[in-house]
Amino acid sequence: MTEYNKNNPFPAKLLERTLLNQEGSSKQTYHLKLDLSGSQMHYEPGDAIGIFPENPPTIVDSILKALKKTGKEEVVDPRSQATFSLKHFLVTKSNLIRITLPMLKQFPALHELIEDKEARKEFIENHDLEDLLTQQPNPNVSLQELISYISPMLPRFYSIASSQQKTPNSVDLLVVTFQCQQGGKMRWGLGSRFLCDQAQVGETVIPTYHHPNATFKVPKDKNTPMIMIGPGTGVAPYRAFLQERLQQKASGKNWLFFGERMRAYDFYYEDFFTELEEAGFLKLDCAFSRDQEEKVYVQHLIKKQAADIWAWIQEGAYIYICGDARHMAKDVTATLHSIAAEKGKLSDTEAKDFIRKMRQEKRLLLDVY
Ligand SMILES: Cc1cc2nc3c(=O)[nH]c(=O)nc-3n(C[C@H](O)[C@H](O)[C@H](O)COP(=O)(O)OP(=O)(O)OC[C@H]3O[C@@H](n4cnc5c(N)ncnc54)[C@H](O)[C@@H]3O)c2cc1C
Ligand SMILES: NC(=O)c1ccc[n+]([C@@H]2O[C@H](COP(=O)([O-])OP(=O)(O)OC[C@H]3O[C@@H](n4cnc5c(N)ncnc54)[C@H](OP(=O)(O)O)[C@@H]3O)[C@@H](O)[C@H]2O)c1
Repeated sequence: MTEYNKNNPFPAKLLERTLLNQEGSSKQTYHLKLDLSGSQMHYEPGDAIGIFPENPPTIVDSILKALKKTGKEEVVDPRSQATFSLKHFLVTKSNLIRITLPMLKQFPALHELIEDKEARKEFIENHDLEDLLTQQPNPNVSLQELISYISPMLPRFYSIASSQQKTPNSVDLLVVTFQCQQGGKMRWGLGSRFLCDQAQVGETVIPTYHHPNATFKVPKDKNTPMIMIGPGTGVAPYRAFLQERLQQKASGKNWLFFGERMRAYDFYYEDFFTELEEAGFLKLDCAFSRDQEEKVYVQHLIKKQAADIWAWIQEGAYIYICGDARHMAKDVTATLHSIAAEKGKLSDTEAKDFIRKMRQEKRLLLDVY
C-alpha cells in the first residue's frame, strides 16, 4: 500500500469550496472540503494539513515568454536533483513571489541597486520574479544556474476544522485569502490563492500530507472544561474539537471566544456554534471588532468575564489560543496574566509563573501563525 507523507504527498481533490463571508464583507474566507479517500490518513483535531501549492499558469507563461523558452527545456531541481521540464519546475517547485539576493546579482543592470541596501530591500518587497524577468530579460547565466537562485516552493499549513470521527474520508479547512496592491500590481498569497481561487473543485490535484500537532489536543479527560480562543481562521480547530466532543458525548464544559470584523458578514460557522450554544453544549462569546466605533477584541470579552475565566481555570480548564501570532496571541496571553494577578491575588512575578506553569503542564496551548 502506498504510504503518503511530505515527500510523497497524497493527491487530494476539492469536494467543496464555499465562501463563508456574506456579500459586502471586506474579507474572503473559504470553507474547503478535501477528499482523502484512499489516503489512509489518520488525523486528530488540533493537527494541520500541509499542502504544496502551484503557481498560477498565467505567471509561469509570462516568465517563459520573458526568458524566450517553451517550457519543455529540461532542468535539474537543485534540491532533489530530479529532472523536470522547465514549466513543471516553475509551476510546482518554485516560489515565484520572492526574489532572492543571489538571483538579483545575475542582472548586470541591477548592480548599482544591489549596492544600496535600502533600495535593494524596497525592490525585493515590491517585485516578484515575473516583474524581475520581464523588466530585466537578460541574466548573464545559463538557465540551469538561473533556476538554482529561485526560492523553493515550501508547503503551507492549514488547521484541520473537522473531526475524522464525523467525516472519515475527508477533511475541512478554513482559509483566508490575502491580496494587496503593492508595487503597482495586485499581490496574492500563493497557498491561499491556489486553494481558494485557482484549484478547480473535483479536478485540480492538491498535494496534501498530514502535519500532526502533539499537544494542541482535546483533553483526554472528557470532563475537563475547555476555553477556546480563536479570532478569524483561528476558530478552525475548535470546530473540529467540538465535533469530536459531540461524538465522544463528552460532558466537559466548552467556552468559545470568536472574533471577526462584522457579525452580519463574517460570522464563520454561525449556525453550528449558535446551535451548540442553544443546546447548552457551548458558551459562546463573539467580538466583532468593526461593528462599533471602538475596537472590541476577544481579550476585551475575556477581561470582562475575568471571574468566570478564573473559576474555570480553578476547575482545571484547558485554555487554547489559535490564530494571529504577531498581536492577538500576545495580547490574549497578557490578559490571562492580568486575570491571574487580579483574581488569584498574585504578584506580577507569581502571575507570570502561574502562566508559565500552565504552559509547562500543557494546559495553556498555543497554535499561532
Ligand atoms: C500550524 C499552522 C496552521 C495554520 N492554519 C491556517 C488556517 O487554518 N487558515 C489559514 O488561512 N491560514 C493558516 N495558516 C497560515 C497559512 O499556512 C499560510 O501562511 C497562509 O495561507 C498564507 O500563505 P500564502 O501562501 O497564501 O501566502 P504567501 O505566498 O506565503 O504570502 C506572501 C506574503 O504575503 C503576506 N501575507 C500573506 N497572507 C497574509 C495575511 N493573511 N495577513 C498578512 N500578510 C499576509 C506575507 O507577508 C507573505 O510574506 C496556518 C499556519 C500554520 C503554521
Ligand atoms: N504572515 C502570513 O503569511 C500570514 C498569512 C495568513 C494569515 N496571517 C495572519 O493570520 C492571522 C489570521 O488571519 P485572519 O484573517 O483569519 O484573522 P485576523 O486578521 O486575525 O482577524 C480576526 C479578528 O481579529 C481582530 N484582531 C486584530 N488585532 C487583534 C488583536 N491584537 N487581538 C485580538 N484580535 C485582533 C481583527 O480585528 P480588526 O481587523 O478589525 O483589527 C478581526 O476582528 C492574521 O493575523 C494574519 O495576518 C499571516
